[in-house]
Amino acid sequence: MKAIVVTDQASGTAGMKLVERPEPQAAINDVVVQVYAAGFVNTELEWPSTWADRAFRDRTPSILGHELAGVVTALGYGTTGLSIGQRVFGLSDWHRDGTLAEYVAMEARNLAPLPGDVDFTVGASLPISGLTAWQGLFQHGRLQAGQSVLAHGAAGAVGSVVTQLAREAGAYVIGTGRAADRQKALDFGANEFVDLGNDSLEDVGGVDLVFDVIGGDIQKRSAALIRAGGTLVTAVGPTDIRPADGLAVDFVVEADRAQLSEIVQRVRDGRLRTNIGKVSSLEDAIATFNSTERRAGKTVFRVRP
Ligand SMILES: NC(=O)c1ccc[n+]([C@@H]2O[C@H](COP(=O)([O-])OP(=O)(O)OC[C@H]3O[C@@H](n4cnc5c(N)ncnc54)[C@H](OP(=O)(O)O)[C@@H]3O)[C@@H](O)[C@H]2O)c1
Repeated sequence: MKAIVVTDQASGTAGMKLVERPEPQAAINDVVVQVYAAGFVNTELEWPSTWADRAFRDRTPSILGHELAGVVTALGYGTTGLSIGQRVFGLSDWHRDGTLAEYVAMEARNLAPLPGDVDFTVGASLPISGLTAWQGLFQHGRLQAGQSVLAHGAAGAVGSVVTQLAREAGAYVIGTGRAADRQKALDFGANEFVDLGNDSLEDVGGVDLVFDVIGGDIQKRSAALIRAGGTLVTAVGPTDIRPADGLAVDFVVEADRAQLSEIVQRVRDGRLRTNIGKVSSLEDAIATFNSTERRAGKTVFRVRP
């Protein structure tokens, strides 16, 4: 099968190759999925799990990509809950070969059924950004109606879902980002927008929840805005920054079938809009990664036409 692999961390995107690899086998509780579309997070080459297994041993050459939509083609020993021929979407294990490939083997529990009226490209754009937003807001941030949320990178893949879900939950959302993203963030439902390059973040006043996808100085200055009892959730930790009188949670998104189903249902009924940017193919993947063009929104690779 065709797959995009990396072998050398120092080479960055220049080290990516489109190669032939053996088709994966389904282990216990796995399924093999024929990948129709795969999502990609632009920072993946920086994650330790791209390069090492759970025992920190080199696992290269590694196949990139950890979210997908496709069709189940094989079941491992003991696998229940999914069947051959079923349309699915989900989040594959960080430490295993990924989804920028024609087939992937992954645990069945990390997938949810993809309804027949949802396109594979849409399905592949949802798992990481959707689950990160859901878990950050509702599990780690314990968002309540009437609270205010500072949603950083509100026009980005995660931030656009954070903005929409927080509004739906009855929160007041202050989106942030680059000057050029103001209208996009407002269109996703932000009540107001802070241009981090030109506006003063401190003018925002107090907020109940900061959803951080930027880190660094922005994270530190945001923590100072949190009201007593509020929470900083960060997807770009680890952080040692603690709000004065609140909680800070660094987290890494986890697969969750029920949450994936909640997310895709919202796409179907119009409560959630996707934020798909560049759509490419496996053959064009290397050129896409090496392009200097700004990739706004979620990058999706269409693996099967
Ligand atoms: N822990 C987890 O489980 C988890 C899960 C998902 C994502 N993440 C991480 O979260 C981050 C965001 O992911 P994503 O997929 O949402 O990326 P994305 O689509 O690139 O969104 C990030 C947004 O923030 C903007 N931004 C970044 N730095 C900025 C700055 N200094 N000033 C103003 N705007 C800024 C970006 O603008 P530009 O495009 O112009 O930079 C972009 O609009 C990544 O670091 C990713 O690795 C973590």
